[in-house]
Amino acid sequence: MSDLIRFGVSIEDDLLENFDELVAERGYATRSEALRDLIRDALVGARLEKQQKAVEVLGSLTLVYDHHARELAEQMAEVQHSRPRMIVSVLHVHVSHDDCMEVIVLRGQYGEVRTMADALLSLKGVKHGKLFVTLPTQAIAGRKSAAVSSSHTHKHQHTREKPSVQRRSDKVKQGA
Ligand code: NI
Repeated sequence: MSDLIRFGVSIEDDLLENFDELVAERGYATRSEALRDLIRDALVGARLEKQQKAVEVLGSLTLVYDHHARELAEQMAEVQHSRPRMIVSVLHVHVSHDDCMEVIVLRGQYGEVRTMADALLSLKGVKHGKLFVTLPTQAIAGRKSAAVSSSHTHKHQHTREKPSVQRRSDKVKQGA
Protein backbone atom coordinates (compact mmCIF):
# COMPACT_ATOMS: atom_id res chain seq x y z
CA MET A 1 0.00 0.00 0.00
CA SER A 2 1.21 3.53 -0.74
CA ASP A 3 2.29 5.91 2.02
CA LEU A 4 -0.24 8.45 3.19
CA ILE A 5 0.64 12.11 2.78
CA ARG A 6 -1.19 14.97 4.47
CA PHE A 7 -1.72 18.18 2.54
CA GLY A 8 -3.61 21.40 3.17
CA VAL A 9 -6.57 22.50 1.08
CA SER A 10 -8.07 25.98 0.96
CA ILE A 11 -11.80 25.88 0.40
CA GLU A 12 -14.78 28.21 0.81
CA ASP A 13 -16.67 27.55 4.04
CA ASP A 14 -20.05 26.96 2.38
CA LEU A 15 -18.49 24.58 -0.13
CA LEU A 16 -16.92 22.63 2.72
CA GLU A 17 -20.20 22.62 4.61
CA ASN A 18 -21.97 21.09 1.61
CA PHE A 19 -19.15 18.61 1.15
CA ASP A 20 -19.38 17.54 4.79
CA GLU A 21 -23.09 16.92 4.32
CA LEU A 22 -22.34 14.74 1.32
CA VAL A 23 -19.64 12.90 3.27
CA ALA A 24 -22.16 12.15 6.02
CA GLU A 25 -24.92 11.15 3.60
CA ARG A 26 -22.69 8.74 1.77
CA GLY A 27 -21.53 7.20 5.02
CA TYR A 28 -17.85 8.02 4.79
CA ALA A 29 -15.98 7.94 8.09
CA THR A 30 -13.75 10.89 7.12
CA ARG A 31 -13.46 13.70 4.59
CA SER A 32 -10.19 12.18 3.49
CA GLU A 33 -11.78 8.93 2.38
CA ALA A 34 -14.48 10.79 0.46
CA LEU A 35 -11.87 13.01 -1.18
CA ARG A 36 -9.75 10.02 -2.17
CA ASP A 37 -12.75 8.40 -3.87
CA LEU A 38 -13.49 11.63 -5.78
CA ILE A 39 -9.87 11.86 -6.90
CA ARG A 40 -9.82 8.23 -8.06
CA ASP A 41 -13.02 8.75 -9.98
CA ALA A 42 -11.61 11.86 -11.68
CA LEU A 43 -8.38 10.03 -12.54
CA VAL A 44 -10.24 7.12 -14.10
CA GLY A 45 -12.31 9.54 -16.17
CA ALA A 46 -9.27 11.50 -17.29
CA ARG A 47 -7.34 8.36 -18.18
CA LEU A 48 -10.22 7.01 -20.23
CA GLU A 49 -10.58 10.30 -22.07
CA LYS A 50 -6.90 10.42 -22.88
CA GLN A 51 -6.22 6.82 -23.79
CA GLN A 52 -9.76 6.01 -24.79
CA LYS A 53 -10.08 2.90 -26.81
CA ALA A 54 -6.85 1.06 -26.09
CA VAL A 55 -6.93 1.14 -22.30
CA GLU A 56 -7.81 -2.11 -20.49
CA VAL A 57 -10.88 -1.69 -18.34
CA LEU A 58 -13.26 -3.57 -16.12
CA GLY A 59 -16.90 -2.79 -16.63
CA SER A 60 -20.29 -3.72 -15.30
CA LEU A 61 -23.28 -3.25 -17.51
CA THR A 62 -26.67 -3.22 -15.81
CA LEU A 63 -29.71 -3.80 -18.02
CA VAL A 64 -33.39 -3.88 -17.17
CA TYR A 65 -35.52 -5.38 -19.87
CA ASP A 66 -38.89 -6.85 -20.63
CA HIS A 67 -38.43 -10.57 -21.04
CA HIS A 68 -41.63 -10.77 -23.07
CA ALA A 69 -39.99 -8.68 -25.79
CA ARG A 70 -39.74 -10.85 -28.85
CA GLU A 71 -36.35 -12.35 -29.55
CA LEU A 72 -34.65 -10.04 -27.05
CA ALA A 73 -33.13 -12.78 -24.90
CA GLU A 74 -31.82 -14.47 -28.02
CA GLN A 75 -30.35 -11.24 -29.36
CA MET A 76 -28.72 -10.50 -26.01
CA ALA A 77 -27.13 -13.94 -25.95
CA GLU A 78 -25.98 -13.53 -29.54
CA VAL A 79 -24.20 -10.24 -28.82
CA GLN A 80 -22.46 -11.75 -25.81
CA HIS A 81 -21.49 -14.94 -27.64
CA SER A 82 -19.84 -12.83 -30.35
CA ARG A 83 -17.07 -11.94 -27.86
CA PRO A 84 -17.23 -14.61 -25.14
CA ARG A 85 -13.80 -13.78 -23.72
CA MET A 86 -14.94 -10.30 -22.78
CA ILE A 87 -17.69 -11.65 -20.54
CA VAL A 88 -16.40 -12.36 -17.04
CA SER A 89 -19.72 -13.08 -15.37
CA VAL A 90 -23.45 -12.55 -15.74
CA LEU A 91 -25.95 -12.11 -12.94
CA HIS A 92 -29.62 -12.47 -13.74
CA VAL A 93 -32.46 -11.34 -11.50
CA HIS A 94 -36.16 -11.96 -12.22
CA VAL A 95 -37.44 -8.61 -10.95
CA SER A 96 -41.17 -8.85 -11.58
CA HIS A 97 -43.70 -10.54 -13.83
CA ASP A 98 -42.41 -8.53 -16.79
CA ASP A 99 -38.93 -7.36 -15.96
CA CYS A 100 -35.55 -8.94 -15.69
CA MET A 101 -32.32 -7.32 -14.62
CA GLU A 102 -28.97 -8.48 -15.87
CA VAL A 103 -25.57 -7.36 -14.64
CA ILE A 104 -22.82 -8.26 -17.09
CA VAL A 105 -19.21 -7.96 -15.97
CA LEU A 106 -16.93 -7.14 -18.88
CA ARG A 107 -13.19 -7.02 -19.27
CA GLY A 108 -11.24 -5.77 -22.24
CA GLN A 109 -10.18 -2.68 -24.14
CA TYR A 110 -12.42 0.28 -23.45
CA GLY A 111 -13.46 0.64 -27.09
CA GLU A 112 -14.57 -3.00 -27.27
CA VAL A 113 -16.36 -2.88 -23.92
CA ARG A 114 -18.16 0.31 -24.94
CA THR A 115 -19.16 -1.21 -28.29
CA MET A 116 -20.63 -4.31 -26.69
CA ALA A 117 -22.44 -2.26 -24.05
CA ASP A 118 -23.96 -0.02 -26.72
CA ALA A 119 -25.01 -3.04 -28.79
CA LEU A 120 -26.89 -4.42 -25.78
CA LEU A 121 -28.30 -1.10 -24.55
CA SER A 122 -29.75 -0.29 -27.97
CA LEU A 123 -31.68 -3.55 -28.33
CA LYS A 124 -35.44 -3.14 -28.53
CA GLY A 125 -37.04 -4.08 -25.23
CA VAL A 126 -34.20 -2.84 -23.02
CA LYS A 127 -35.88 -0.30 -20.75
CA HIS A 128 -32.96 1.10 -18.85
CA GLY A 129 -29.30 0.45 -18.48
CA LYS A 130 -25.91 1.87 -17.78
CA LEU A 131 -22.27 0.93 -18.15
CA PHE A 132 -19.91 1.55 -15.26
CA VAL A 133 -16.25 1.42 -16.18
CA THR A 134 -13.19 1.32 -13.97
CA LEU A 135 -9.48 0.60 -14.31
CA PRO A 136 -7.33 -1.93 -12.53
CA THR A 137 -6.14 -0.09 -9.41
CA GLN A 138 -2.50 0.08 -10.43
CA ALA A 139 -3.53 2.16 -13.40
CA ILE A 140 -5.27 4.72 -11.19
CA ALA A 141 -2.67 5.48 -8.56
CA GLY A 142 0.76 4.74 -7.30
CA ARG A 143 4.15 5.07 -8.98
CA LYS A 144 5.23 1.99 -7.08
CA SER A 145 2.34 -0.17 -8.09
CA ALA A 146 2.55 1.04 -11.70
CA ALA A 147 5.62 -1.17 -12.06
CA VAL A 148 3.74 -4.23 -10.87
CA SER A 149 2.67 -6.46 -13.72
CA SER A 150 -0.99 -7.11 -14.26
CA SER A 151 -0.57 -10.76 -13.33
CA HIS A 152 -1.84 -11.76 -9.93
CA THR A 153 1.45 -11.59 -8.07
CA HIS A 154 0.43 -9.70 -4.95
CA LYS A 155 -0.26 -11.43 -1.69
CA HIS A 156 -3.93 -11.43 -0.98
CA GLN A 157 -4.41 -8.36 1.11
CA HIS A 158 -6.94 -6.17 -0.60
CA THR A 159 -6.96 -3.90 2.43
CA ARG A 160 -8.49 -0.75 1.11
CA GLU A 161 -9.21 1.51 4.02
CA LYS A 162 -13.01 1.66 4.27
CA PRO A 163 -13.96 2.21 7.89
CA SER A 164 -17.51 3.31 7.10
CA VAL A 165 -18.41 -0.13 5.82
CA GLN A 166 -16.98 -1.74 8.91
CA ARG A 167 -18.93 0.59 11.11
CA ARG A 168 -22.17 -0.34 9.41
CA SER A 169 -21.58 -4.04 9.87
CA ASP A 170 -20.64 -3.45 13.50
CA LYS A 171 -23.98 -1.78 14.00
CA VAL A 172 -25.74 -4.77 12.45
CA LYS A 173 -23.89 -7.12 14.76
CA GLN A 174 -24.79 -5.09 17.81
CA GLY A 175 -28.43 -4.99 16.75
CA ALA A 176 -28.61 -8.74 16.19
NI1 NI B 1 -35.57 -13.13 -15.62
